[in-house]
Amino acid sequence: MKPGHVLMVCLGNICRSPLAQGIFEELSPFDNYRVDSAGTANYHSGRAPDQRSITTAQLHGIAIDHQRARQFTPQDFQDFDYIYVMDRQNLRNVLAMTTKASDRKKVHLLLGDTEVEDPYYGGDEGFEVVFQKIHSACLEILSQWKV
Ligand code: 4NP
Repeated sequence: MKPGHVLMVCLGNICRSPLAQGIFEELSPFDNYRVDSAGTANYHSGRAPDQRSITTAQLHGIAIDHQRARQFTPQDFQDFDYIYVMDRQNLRNVLAMTTKASDRKKVHLLLGDTEVEDPYYGGDEGFEVVFQKIHSACLEILSQWKV
C-alpha cells in the first residue's frame, strides 16, 4: 500500500473519528500526508470532540481538543486517498455518495471486517476500548505503507 491522504469517518465526528485522526497523526512517521476526520451527519459541526474522547486521548499523550467537527462531503473523494469508516452504517452512507468505482475503492472499514462500535451512549470505559481498536488498526495500516 502506498502512503496517501487519510480521512477517518464516523457518524458525529466527535467521538471515534477524532480519536482516529489523533492516533494516526501520532503514529505516522510520514509528514507529507494529510490526516483529517469527518462525520456523515452534521449534528455536531463546528464542535470540539466529546470530552470523553479528549480525556482518553490525553491519557495516551495525544491532544485532540483543537479538532472541530465537520460533515463528510463529496469533495472528500477528491481530497483523500483512503477513507476509513468506523461502522457499517458509515460505510453505507459514504458509499451512497460515490459515483465512480475509483471512489468506492477508497472506502474501507477501519477494522477491515468488523466495526468500531459507537461509544456515544455508553460509559467512559467504552472510549478506551475504541482507542485500543483504532490504535491497532492504525499500526496495521502504517505497517503496510511502503514508500
Ligand atoms: P461518533 O459518535 O459517530 O463516534 O462521533 C456519535 C456522536 C454523536 C451521536 C452519535 C454518535 N449523536 O447521535 O449525536
